[in-house]
Amino acid sequence: MTVAVCPGSFDPVTLGHVDIVERARTMFDEVVVAIAANAAKRSLLDVGTRRALLADAVAAVPGVRVDVVPGLLADFCRDVGAVAVVKGLRGGADFDAEHPMALMNRHLTGVETVFVVGAPHLAHIASSMVKDVARHGGDIADLVPAGVAPAVLTALAASGPHPSSGGAS
Ligand code: PNS
Repeated sequence: MTVAVCPGSFDPVTLGHVDIVERARTMFDEVVVAIAANAAKRSLLDVGTRRALLADAVAAVPGVRVDVVPGLLADFCRDVGAVAVVKGLRGGADFDAEHPMALMNRHLTGVETVFVVGAPHLAHIASSMVKDVARHGGDIADLVPAGVAPAVLTALAASGPHPSSGGAS
């Protein structure tokens, strides 16, 4: 049985992520969707919320489970017996960001990375943009799985004004 890990921050999960998980599942017997910490990003949603939203989003895809990476992704892949990390590419910028991570993960434990080109009609969807659209009152319902938009709006309301929104200096 082949296992692959689809890692990400999933802050929040988008329709683009689900597309990549479904594509990964066509190549591997089991796919572990793994929530990991990205040192370069500050999360809007807590890990529990991200996990619950992800679990709902992939519930209809057999052979997929959701987990949390406690440390290094490469260690996690070894621990779950994964033969590959699967990452989606929307374009060249994604490859530029992913390439050094793939090399580092292989350096650490030998795990390979498989890149999957996502569906073109989802190529404009990124979690960061989804949050930005929502923050400024735009509709994100058709960019994310059911239930995600209300969770994002709730978290944004609780997080207070964004530093970029101006106000007294
Ligand atoms: O969705 P993202 O933010 O592009 O995913 C990046 C992520 C979380 C997969 C990456 O930052 C990661 O693997 N974090 C776990 C810690 C780790 O292994 N760091 C070394 C990466 S080479």
